[in-house]
Amino acid sequence: MTHKGLMVWLDSRIVRYEDAKVPILTHSMQYGSGIFEGIRSYGTEDGTAVFRLRDHVRRFLNSARIYSMRLGHSQTQLEAAVKSVVKTNGLTDSYIRPFAFYNDDNIGISTKGKRVSTYIAAIPFGAYFGKARETGLRCKVSSWHRINSEILPVEAKASGNYVNSIIAGNEARNARFEEAILTSIDGDIAEGPGENIFIVRDGALITPAIDSDILVGITRDTVIRIAEMTGMEVEQRLVKRDELYSADEIFFTGTAAEVTPIINVDGIRVGRGPGRTTRALARQYSDIVHGKVPEFSGWLSYV
Ligand SMILES: Cc1ncc(COP(=O)(O)O)c(C=O)c1O
Repeated sequence: MTHKGLMVWLDSRIVRYEDAKVPILTHSMQYGSGIFEGIRSYGTEDGTAVFRLRDHVRRFLNSARIYSMRLGHSQTQLEAAVKSVVKTNGLTDSYIRPFAFYNDDNIGISTKGKRVSTYIAAIPFGAYFGKARETGLRCKVSSWHRINSEILPVEAKASGNYVNSIIAGNEARNARFEEAILTSIDGDIAEGPGENIFIVRDGALITPAIDSDILVGITRDTVIRIAEMTGMEVEQRLVKRDELYSADEIFFTGTAAEVTPIINVDGIRVGRGPGRTTRALARQYSDIVHGKVPEFSGWLSYV
């Protein structure tokens, strides 16, 4: 994939993608010491809008706080910067990546005195899982457990956390599955490598709670709000692995994944393909992000 021609925001300046360079010894590249966000914009009848921008920027700033990184940019400045990147590149459906990192090539692990840089890039983006967004994914429960807050702060969206995601995803794909599902160290269901997970059972939604070693996803929250609005019961609690195998429906949520059905776990089929509830939630989610649901228009930031 080439991103030539794109303009990115780097430390308050808009520069060409090709000109936004870092030395190969950059601290965050060696040690995974960056923090980041994944945000989307969508086309609506009133122009391009970024979905839940305020919540994503708030999480970005919280990730920075957890790691004592001083970004030097406020919530308002970062929100404006995200919008400017989408607008400058004339993007409609895009994936936006704010990233803060130690832009310093001293070899030591300590971050003391190291310079922090922030960039925001945005690229045209469609379905993260391709046609599986409609047809569903075949997943494997990973033998790797999700990291937990006694090891690393899972609330922070930090680069280093994603080596845990990568190894679980590799294992799943090496075994000819399409995505991994990670469990906590106690064996309870946590989440996907970059997605939260939901089960549908007897018409109710069940999802691992905040104490299940998950990144508390913004899409997860959106789906819970949709479900509650439509009168569905939502349970946030510990979810046992067995419950995946006997679920009526299962789906992932995430900014990238949106609402993606899971049709098979460890070779066991889930229902008969993507279920009715999953499809309805996916449709409602799509309507909201495309500005078709007035009750949720407050979540759209027009560029
Ligand atoms: C580990 C992990 N869990 C869950 C999610 C879903 O979060 P969100 O819906 O805020 O994108 C993501 C994506 O950011 C993630 O990386």
